[in-house]
Amino acid sequence: MPTAKKPVAHPDLAEVLFTGQQIKRRVRSLAREIKTVYGEGEFTIISLINGAVLFTADLMREIDNPVRLDCIRVSSYGNKTKSIGAPQIVHSLTLDIRKRHVLLIDDILDTGKTLQLVSRLIRDLDPASLRTCVLLDKKGRREVPIEADFVGFEIPDKFVIGYGLDFAERYRNLPCIGVLRPDRQSTDGWSAG
Ligand code: IMP
Ligand code: MG
Repeated sequence: MPTAKKPVAHPDLAEVLFTGQQIKRRVRSLAREIKTVYGEGEFTIISLINGAVLFTADLMREIDNPVRLDCIRVSSYGNKTKSIGAPQIVHSLTLDIRKRHVLLIDDILDTGKTLQLVSRLIRDLDPASLRTCVLLDKKGRREVPIEADFVGFEIPDKFVIGYGLDFAERYRNLPCIGVLRPDRQSTDGWSAG
């Protein structure tokens, strides 16, 4: 008799918050929420890379509207688990978004500084509308007053990895989202590459 498949966790995880299946279901329902707002109309997705890559790819495939895609790269945490000062735009848009409906997508809303910075940049480009969507929301950590229009899951103030989210560029490829073990929150002893 075939044995039931166990979800694959990772030894560096203290706990799994959301399995791949749970993420998939939530992404599907988020897509339906988004669809009720945009109807059949076209909109432009702006994804904040690298973190939002997996979320954006899965969400887009649940949406049958005509969509355009562009990406913005914002400077990241480095090897720390806490935000380091002000985020900066490292690579900006290539598409023209003037008079276009824009949906800005990020992996996680933490202090809010990243979403605030990018929202301002987009607003300055005179879009028809701007809405924001994040997979995860650490509400308790907000330092600037900003909320996302669409939120996948609210989570506690813990450093999470997987499904696009990294620690020092590792773990983005985990299919689940989990809390990084405190004893792994150091890059000592890691070699480059
Ligand atoms: P904020 O500017 O403080 O809101 O941070 C947003 C960015 O910080 C996200 O796009 C993530 O790249 C990163 N970030 C915040 N919290 C976490 C976490 O728990 N794990 C991994 N990355 C995080
Ligand atoms: Mg990010």
